[in-house]
Amino acid sequence: MREIDPKSAAIKDVFGYILAGVAPRPIALVSTISPDGAVNLAPFSFYNGFSANPPIVAFSPSRRLRDSSVKDTYTNIVATNECVINAVTYEIAQQVNLASADFAESVNEFGKSGLTPIDSVAVKPPRVKESPFQMECRLTQMVTLGDGGASGNLALCEVIRFHFAEEILSGDQIDTQKLDLVARMGGATYCRASGDAIFEIAKPNGGAQIGFEGLPEYVRKSAILTAANMALLAGANNIPTFDEAKQFVEESRPLSIASSNIHRMYILDSDHHALLSLARTDSTIEAFERTAKKALDVTELDSQLTGELVDFAWKTLVYANTSLSSD
Ligand SMILES: Cc1cc2nc3c(=O)[nH]c(=O)nc-3n(C[C@H](O)[C@H](O)[C@H](O)COP(=O)(O)O)c2cc1C
Repeated sequence: MREIDPKSAAIKDVFGYILAGVAPRPIALVSTISPDGAVNLAPFSFYNGFSANPPIVAFSPSRRLRDSSVKDTYTNIVATNECVINAVTYEIAQQVNLASADFAESVNEFGKSGLTPIDSVAVKPPRVKESPFQMECRLTQMVTLGDGGASGNLALCEVIRFHFAEEILSGDQIDTQKLDLVARMGGATYCRASGDAIFEIAKPNGGAQIGFEGLPEYVRKSAILTAANMALLAGANNIPTFDEAKQFVEESRPLSIASSNIHRMYILDSDHHALLSLARTDSTIEAFERTAKKALDVTELDSQLTGELVDFAWKTLVYANTSLSSD
């Protein structure tokens, strides 16, 4: 590992470490308006949500590296206390990039980027029509983090109105897949948060998980299971008994998986049932471990199935490692 003291590094390099290492970052497309009515639009990826009660989000319009001057967004929000934060989707990412160019103060970036301003309800700055999720905000606090080039100014904003396009909702909630957000990474790189890039991890419920230290040695020393597989096993509240495992494996009942996704349900059910039968024919610990691994690897497709798949994996492992190693 390399070690660097930021105080002895060039600001440009420190900026690069934070950009690449603290990523992916969501992007706030912020519209503000100057006291004399000039509309401004710019993206900020030093941005996140910090509180739901009250709803507080924050972004950081930093001082310019070249001359330590402040950006128009900073000047406007400090003067008026208002902004609109618009979510950045894949569809508008190129236009948002265009809006980030260093235009003169008087330039309206809506015109430059081709994005459409629409009236807000509770604040003066306009919303961006093409963004499917918009938040009208009031500045509650501006925290100055320095006064040199690339120093940040944390604008803490309270959301006073949410706006959602119908197309991104499933019921009353935002559907991440439909939203199709992009995020900023190091340099000029971005990532797209939809499709296969999205995976699920079931939340650990309660506090009774057996943990890594509770894993039997045959799991911890396995050459087949990864640390991620072991973490799933360690998230169980108990290990099945050999009798439970034996009954399950010998009966070889199809998994009674109920997924919201019918296609996935079919794949999981047929795959694992077949693998378990194969392991029984093969009768090696490795064959059973590979079957357990296969079940654990697919939990990220649908976190609702995690409990059942982990149970399947545990029973497969307990059966193999108890009955086969004692032969
Ligand atoms: C995706 C993206 C993210 C950005 N994030 C930030 C940021 O977090 N802070 C910042 O000061 N500038 C950021 N910028 C640069 C500003 O958008 C740029 O300096 C812009 O010209 C500022 O506009 P303004 O002077 O109208 O406020 C980002 C640019 C892009 C394309």
